Amino acid sequence: MSAPKKLFIKTYGCQMNVYDSERMAEALGGKGYVETKSADDADMILLNTCHIREKAAEKVYSELGRFKGLKAEKPDLKIGVAGCVAQAEGEEIMRRQPLVDLVVGPQSYHRLPEMETKAREGEKVLDTDFPEEDKFEKLKKRPKAKRGPTAFLTVQEGCDKFCAFCVVPYTRGAEVSRPADRILREAQDLVERGVREITLLGQNVNAYHGAGPNGDLTLAQLIWELDKIDGLERIRFTTSHPNDMQDDLIEAHGTCAKLMPYLHLPVQAGSDKILKRMNRSHTAESYIRLIERIRAARPDILISGDFIVGFPEETEEDFQATMDLVEEVKYGTAYSFKYSTRPGTPAAERAQVDPAAADDRLQRLQALLTRQQREVQDSMVGREVGVLFEKAGRLPGQMVGKSDYLHAVHVADCSRGIGELARVRIVSSGANSLAGELIC
Ligand code: 5AD
Ligand code: SF4
Repeated sequence: MSAPKKLFIKTYGCQMNVYDSERMAEALGGKGYVETKSADDADMILLNTCHIREKAAEKVYSELGRFKGLKAEKPDLKIGVAGCVAQAEGEEIMRRQPLVDLVVGPQSYHRLPEMETKAREGEKVLDTDFPEEDKFEKLKKRPKAKRGPTAFLTVQEGCDKFCAFCVVPYTRGAEVSRPADRILREAQDLVERGVREITLLGQNVNAYHGAGPNGDLTLAQLIWELDKIDGLERIRFTTSHPNDMQDDLIEAHGTCAKLMPYLHLPVQAGSDKILKRMNRSHTAESYIRLIERIRAARPDILISGDFIVGFPEETEEDFQATMDLVEEVKYGTAYSFKYSTRPGTPAAERAQVDPAAADDRLQRLQALLTRQQREVQDSMVGREVGVLFEKAGRLPGQMVGKSDYLHAVHVADCSRGIGELARVRIVSSGANSLAGELIC
C-alpha cells in the first residue's frame, strides 16, 4: 500500500472557516490524505482564507509567496486557496500567484476531491459557484473517528443584511439555512464521537429558519430539538444580529439548561447616525433595550460584541457615543477593529476618517473593553460554575476547561478527565484565565 498523502491546511478568520477546514480534511481523507501540522512535508497545502478586512487578504498573498522554495523542491506539491479570498478574487489569485493550482470558494468544498484529481493531472482548477445543493451533505464523512469534547456545527450560511462595510453578503452569498433533520443527525453523530458541547455557526445564526417536519424551525426551536440529545451537555451559537433576536430565543436563554449564558451580539457602533450609514437598521437605544430584555431572562449572561471605529464620516462625538454604549452595556469580551475599506462595498466610496484619529479611537475603545473584560472575569472569583474539561494543563495533575461563560479555567490536582463536566468554585483570576477547585 502506498504511503498516505499529507494535507496541510492553514485556517484564517472566523469559526466557520475552522468548521469548513475540518470538512475539507474529511473530504480529502476519502482520497487518502491525512493531515499534517507542517507545510514542509505536505503533498497538498490549502489556505482557508478570510476576506473580512484588507490585512487578512494580504496575509494570504504573502503566505503563498513563502511556498515558492517548497514548490521548487517538490514539483508534485499542490497548492490551493479556499475560503472568502478565493470567492472574492477567483482568477485574480491564479494570475497574481502562479504557484496556485486550485481555487475553491466556500460553496464548492464538496467538489474538492474531483478538483484535486484534476490538479494532479496538471490542470489549474477554479470553482467559485454558488450551487443550490447542500455542500455539507455531499461531503463524504470518514468512519466514526473520535472527537474532542467541543465542536462547531454550521446551521446557516450567508447574509442578506448588507451592512455597508461588509463583504460577507458577497463572498458567502445569500442567507441559506440547513434543514433541521440534517443538523440533528450531524449533532447526534458528533455526540457519539465524544462531543459534549456544540457551537452552532452562522454568519447570521439567529436568522436561522431551516426546514423541519412541520414547517420552518426558528433557532430557538432547533436548540430545543438539540436539547433532547442525550450526552449533549452544552449548546452555544454565534454570530447573532440584534434585529433577529426573537422572543423565543431570549426565552430559551432563561429556560434551556443546556444553552450556555454567553451571547455574542455585535452592535458595531453607538452613534445612531453611524449605525444608519452602516445600514444596521437598529439604534443604540433599541440595542440597549434588547440587552436589558436578555438580561431579564438570564441575569448572569455574558455579553460579547464587535465594534468598528473610524467608519467613514465618524466624528469624535460619534465615537464618544460608542464609548457611552460600552459603558452602559458592560461587555464580558469584545472584538474591536479599525474600519478597513473593502472594494465593492457601499462605504468604500465615502469620505474616510484620518487614520491617526481612527488609531487613537481604537486604542481608547480597546482600553475600556479590556478593563470591562477584566472586571467581568474578576467578578467570577467565589462563584460556582460548570467547567467542561478540554485538555491537560502544563502542570502535572492540572486540567483546563471552559466555564459556562467561556472563560478558560485551570484546576489543579484534578480528578476529572477530558470531556467531563464538573462544578468548580473559582478561587482566583489571572491574566487570561481563572483558577478553580472541584466541588465534590
Ligand atoms: N472593517 C473593519 N471591521 C469589519 N468587520 C466586518 N467588516 C469590516 C470592515 N470592513 C468586523 C465587524 C464584524 C466582524 C466579524 O468584523 O465588526 O462583526
Ligand atoms: Fe456582515 Fe454581519 Fe452585517 Fe451580515 S450582519 S453584512 S455578516 S456584519
